[in-house]
Amino acid sequence: MSAEAAGDFDTVLVVDFGAQYAQLIARRVREAHVYSEIVPHTITAAEIAARRPVGVILSGGPKSVHVERAPLLDPAIYDLPAPVLGICYGAQLLAHQLGGEVARTGRGEYGRTALEATAPSQLLGVGGSQPVWMSHFDSIVSPPEGFTATARTSEAPVAVLEAPERAIYGVQFHPEVVHTPRGQELLKSFLYDVCGARPTWTMTSIIESQVEAVRGQVGRERVICGLSGGVDSAVAAALVHKAVGAQLTCVYIDTGLMREGESDQVVETFRRHHGIELIHVRAAERFFERLAGVVDPEEKRKAIGERFIREFEVAAQGLEDARFLVQGTLYPDVIESGTPDAARIKSHHNVGGLPDDLGFELVEPLRALFKDEVRKVGEELGLPEEIVWRQPFPGPGLGVRIIGEVTQERLTILRQADAIVREEVKAAGLEREIWQAFAVLAADVRSVGVMGDERTYAHPVIVRAVSSDDAMTADWARLPYDLLERLSSRIINEVAGVNRVAYDITSKPPGTIEWE
Ligand code: XMP
Repeated sequence: MSAEAAGDFDTVLVVDFGAQYAQLIARRVREAHVYSEIVPHTITAAEIAARRPVGVILSGGPKSVHVERAPLLDPAIYDLPAPVLGICYGAQLLAHQLGGEVARTGRGEYGRTALEATAPSQLLGVGGSQPVWMSHFDSIVSPPEGFTATARTSEAPVAVLEAPERAIYGVQFHPEVVHTPRGQELLKSFLYDVCGARPTWTMTSIIESQVEAVRGQVGRERVICGLSGGVDSAVAAALVHKAVGAQLTCVYIDTGLMREGESDQVVETFRRHHGIELIHVRAAERFFERLAGVVDPEEKRKAIGERFIREFEVAAQGLEDARFLVQGTLYPDVIESGTPDAARIKSHHNVGGLPDDLGFELVEPLRALFKDEVRKVGEELGLPEEIVWRQPFPGPGLGVRIIGEVTQERLTILRQADAIVREEVKAAGLEREIWQAFAVLAADVRSVGVMGDERTYAHPVIVRAVSSDDAMTADWARLPYDLLERLSSRIINEVAGVNRVAYDITSKPPGTIEWE
């Protein structure tokens, strides 16, 4: 499942024994300007050799080497010329597979721990003590032959093991997490000193290599890109435009379900500032017509999704010589598309996107990139901050944030309330820290209130703000009370038709981030 970005970059392969661990390690390697890719632990030595990596890192994972069906590694990998670094489970596994002893000591170690150097080390640099982050139950109690234990903690007699002649290393702690302050230094020692990796994975070189790849793929043909207003399609479009200029035509479908100011901004940014040919489809009326009387969330999503594809097809018919379609697929989508869970989640989430079978060949210039890299590329390409740092927004837009039938009047209410939420969260400096913050209109509910001398009978707005890393799980954000207070009073004072504000304190699971 290569992301096909390697090109001239030195590559480190991260063997996946637990997806979150592997992704974080891969990101840290790239922050050290070395290209990394994640591979499944079932990979063979021959497959690794064929990729000619400069190094291999074995990730941590939730299993013990002692359980039946513990994930193993093709042992021939240890004999390849590429140096190997095992982290946590990865370290235990290599110790176990190479003849050392990993024991269930009955005493695990979790959280911050002091690591004491016990012998000269290639990885740790200066000796002494340093804080590291531990999360393990089993412990390596004796290293395999040919390995030296170079550091210990109170519970782990072999917290670091090294065999420089074989270029194999293991660390029991997690150098990739921020709670190990010198972790990145350790990774750099491995990458630069042990593997001899060149730090060439920089924004400039990423852009150059992707521009070249797009040119190679597209030649002189015409390319279409559907813009959603989100970061991924915006950066993909800007990158493709840099590569093939006027061969690119963007299509922006205004569903009428966008947030305040969003459509204008997309048109302004791409047409005016970047000089990109842009077809602006004003389809709001047709979406409203289709949504009349629709209340059921699934039916609503289906209606919006189908209408969206239809509008796109009509726009594309005017560009019949177009052979290529740009998609903002990111590296985590590439990794996850293999897992059954991902497939299920996607089918629910791809509303507002385009199916792969529209008859175009896909151009996916972000296929090798993590989200943080996409944002940096966007900044480098001169996209405005509001687009580059935009929070995720569902394809069906405000349509799934009106609980009940979608009407123009309800959309106006929601759009105003939502703009206040976004404005205040931004003013509080929390916009980047919070995964998503938005308003939901409980359009079929009304409650009694009193404003001035008048009794009111109007709708509640629910404020939803969550913290999350990947939207698979999320926690409700502990917004400061004074911010909540400002949100509540501004929404009620400024938005006609709303007389109550509630804050959603449900995490995911059991809730979802969106209400529909
Ligand atoms: P839920 O509500 O399932 O949402 O917790 C998880 C994340 O996905 C976004 N979302 C969507 N994104 N098309 C999209 O492009 C969709 O149909 C869709 N539905 C939900 C949601 O905003 C959150 O970030």
